[in-house]
Amino acid sequence: MSKTNKWWKDTVVYQIYPRSFQDSNGDGIGDLKGIMDRLDYLQELGIGAIWLSPVCKSPQDDNGYDISDYQDIDPMFGSLEDMETLIAEAKKRDIQIIVDLVLNHTSDEHPWFKEARKSKDNPYHDYYVWRDGVEGTYPNDMRATFGGPAWEWVPEIGQYYFHQFSVKQPDLNWENPKLRQELYDMINWWMDKGAGGFRMDVIDQVAKVPDEKITANGPRLHEFLREMSRETFQKGDLITVGEAWGATTERAKLYSNPDGSEFSMVFQFEHIGLDQQEGKDKWDLAPLPFLKLKEILGKWQTELHGCGWNSLFWNNHDLPRIVSRWGNDKEYREKSAKMLATILHGMQGTPYVYQGEELGMTNVQYDIEDYRDIETVNVYKERTTSGYSKEDVMHSIHVKSRDNARTPMQWDDSANAGFTTGTPWIKTNPNYTEINVAEQMGREDSVFNYYKELIHMRKEYSVFSDGDFEMLVPEHPQVFAYRRFTEDTELLVICNFFGEQIDCPVAIDLDKYQLLLTNDKENNEAQVLNPYEARMYISKR
Ligand code: GLC
Ligand code: CA
Repeated sequence: MSKTNKWWKDTVVYQIYPRSFQDSNGDGIGDLKGIMDRLDYLQELGIGAIWLSPVCKSPQDDNGYDISDYQDIDPMFGSLEDMETLIAEAKKRDIQIIVDLVLNHTSDEHPWFKEARKSKDNPYHDYYVWRDGVEGTYPNDMRATFGGPAWEWVPEIGQYYFHQFSVKQPDLNWENPKLRQELYDMINWWMDKGAGGFRMDVIDQVAKVPDEKITANGPRLHEFLREMSRETFQKGDLITVGEAWGATTERAKLYSNPDGSEFSMVFQFEHIGLDQQEGKDKWDLAPLPFLKLKEILGKWQTELHGCGWNSLFWNNHDLPRIVSRWGNDKEYREKSAKMLATILHGMQGTPYVYQGEELGMTNVQYDIEDYRDIETVNVYKERTTSGYSKEDVMHSIHVKSRDNARTPMQWDDSANAGFTTGTPWIKTNPNYTEINVAEQMGREDSVFNYYKELIHMRKEYSVFSDGDFEMLVPEHPQVFAYRRFTEDTELLVICNFFGEQIDCPVAIDLDKYQLLLTNDKENNEAQVLNPYEARMYISKR
């Protein structure tokens, strides 16, 4: 693995949400030993890296995205030694562990914050963002992502601290060079422990300027990121990915500059927010504008080609399950899951598979008591007390709650899907008896085996990582089709995004192409597309 090789360009990343992946001791919460027991499964799938959602010490107000010790593992997940073993065991299988770094904020139970709130002249005070004031009059009207004001009063010192997320997630002050240095030291420590990469949580928000109501993309953002990269990542051969909700393609070229000055790649969401009402938030549902989806995905393909690198994803731990969202989780569950995978994995960038996506796992519809996510619980309270009907709010929650992604991984059809012998921290999706790993691994036409093929193809044909991109039939209301090409190879991807059979609007020259992959082996009429049919062709050599 040499630096210029950029190994992460033809690898696929698998995201694990540790508390929901595999429990090894019956306490109902997934843990590191559980992950170790499943490494062979991941190797079989063919992935090259695991993005591990946070396992550091945390009061778990936001399931680990509120860290109280960056250099220790939460006992709920295991020990530091377990983490070292996991890193080593994964490496034996050619899998790198990507550590999730939450650098925008800590937990309010982090020792830095406990010190910081003691007095204005405490050496740690300036690690966080404070404003003078009087109780009840906030410094400004900024709101926190999880509801309520973004300011919290600390009576002992007569100041407010700033928090973009929950009250228990005070924002770090990146203007302070000492704080930045502490973070870099911590990152280097993880590199010494063998981390193969880092995912940086809401990294676009670290350079905030609350007085000007700036949260994302603050003026010093890229200066800070380049400094961090120089002080840390550039000493290794890592995969680094920055979460940036509102990145434009221009900004993405900075984040993922091929000169390595910031990160390997950007993880942006422009395609993901499309099914919500404009100017409103994710709970205000709207149908997916399909042409817009094509336009946006196509734009990222062409604009980053040769000068940046994108992450390709439909899912993560914050998003509903894609097969329920933009596919069909009933009659065509497997077929539409494979179709969506085909679109994504044929593009340029590094594909991410979120645990259970490779089985076509679906959303859930629980009663409010069964939700665990702080965002879901808060929006329910906020909206039901401000005039929305309960049915309305529950409908939005069923469609968009982050807990859709957080139900236990479905391993087999035994009690609790083989996830735990105890009581799971969140209810298992009742469809586990039908959708599970054990059922799919042995079945040739399963979603699992389809993902496995896609992952292998990316390694086998360099056109996947290097090829140019051309969107075909951009105005067609049902078909997602594109061409990828290098000097000697061409890849043709054709997908019917919907449930009606149609004539294929792209002429397929069968003298030129051979079929590489399809989710409909029965169909032998090339110019007809069945519901949710997906095909990949490659040029004959
Ligand atoms: C990111 C994480 C999300 C978390 C938030 C605050 O968006 O993906 O899970 O709640 O940051 O850390
Ligand atoms: Ca456990």
